Amino acid sequence: MKPTALITGASGGIGYEFSHLFAKAGYNLIIVARSESKLTQLQEELEGTTVTVIPQDLAEPGAAEVLYQKVKDLDLTVEVLINNAGFGLNGQFGELPLLDQQKMLQVNINALTELTHLFLEDIQAAPLYDIPKGVLNIASTAAFQPGPKMAVYYASKAYVLSFTEALVEEYKGTGITFTTLCPGATDTNFFKTANAEHTKLVNTTMAPDKVAKAGFLGFVKGKRVVVPGAANQSLAYASKFIPRSVSAKLAHYIDQ
Ligand SMILES: NC(=O)c1ccc[n+]([C@@H]2O[C@H](COP(=O)([O-])OP(=O)(O)OC[C@H]3O[C@@H](n4cnc5c(N)ncnc54)[C@H](OP(=O)(O)O)[C@@H]3O)[C@@H](O)[C@H]2O)c1
Repeated sequence: MKPTALITGASGGIGYEFSHLFAKAGYNLIIVARSESKLTQLQEELEGTTVTVIPQDLAEPGAAEVLYQKVKDLDLTVEVLINNAGFGLNGQFGELPLLDQQKMLQVNINALTELTHLFLEDIQAAPLYDIPKGVLNIASTAAFQPGPKMAVYYASKAYVLSFTEALVEEYKGTGITFTTLCPGATDTNFFKTANAEHTKLVNTTMAPDKVAKAGFLGFVKGKRVVVPGAANQSLAYASKFIPRSVSAKLAHYIDQ
């Protein structure tokens, strides 16, 4: 029997690329996002792989439980959970609508945490295959410093990194892999959705297939944290030594 990978945010960008990579590696897929038509199109592209489409808005409180129940009702088990769905919002904190920022926290933090909790028992109980079982969480290089004009987004990604690194330690020796992928700017719909197309970051993007491949390979090798690209790795390394007040200023400058 083949293991199953559940990928959130599979309808585009990095999640779309993950879907191709995990399918190629021999996983069955459960693909999740709001855009059912895009998911169905991806399902057609992945002919030869068993792909289950589950449209779900993860910004709705309780969505993780609803999604988990849908998977159970289909009698499916999940061996790999890829918490990729997420979005950012650019603007002065007090001027961005609170409801939109709450939705961002719901997707980037709550749904990710709840899905990890809900599927962990299944992942633990799953047999060991040649390819690992576990959780691949998508943070960002935003996790390494404060991000003026995207304060909530940067903070949400710091949560994802801290949360996942803690689980690496808690579950050491259990056969479950926890990996955090920290992409830098990537050429997807992210900047449009975030209203951040004016920022300097858009000139430094990596291709989403390269980013997803780095995450996939890092997960397969059981890496704790994966930062794709030499420039992003340098930034992540430098953030260990630069005072946070300075890195906040730099992030603010880059935003303009
Ligand atoms: N692009 C970058 O520069 C960058 C850098 C660092 C980290 N990241 C992270 O990488 C991950 C993937 O983003 P991306 O760059 O691939 O952006 P993207 O192209 O905008 O893709 C985002 C995905 O998340 C899904 N999504 C958004 N809101 C959702 C919701 N409420 N419920 C369910 N699914 C939802 C979208 O699907 P639907 O719209 O169909 O729901 C889409 O499939 C995110 O966690 C992002 O924070 C991106």
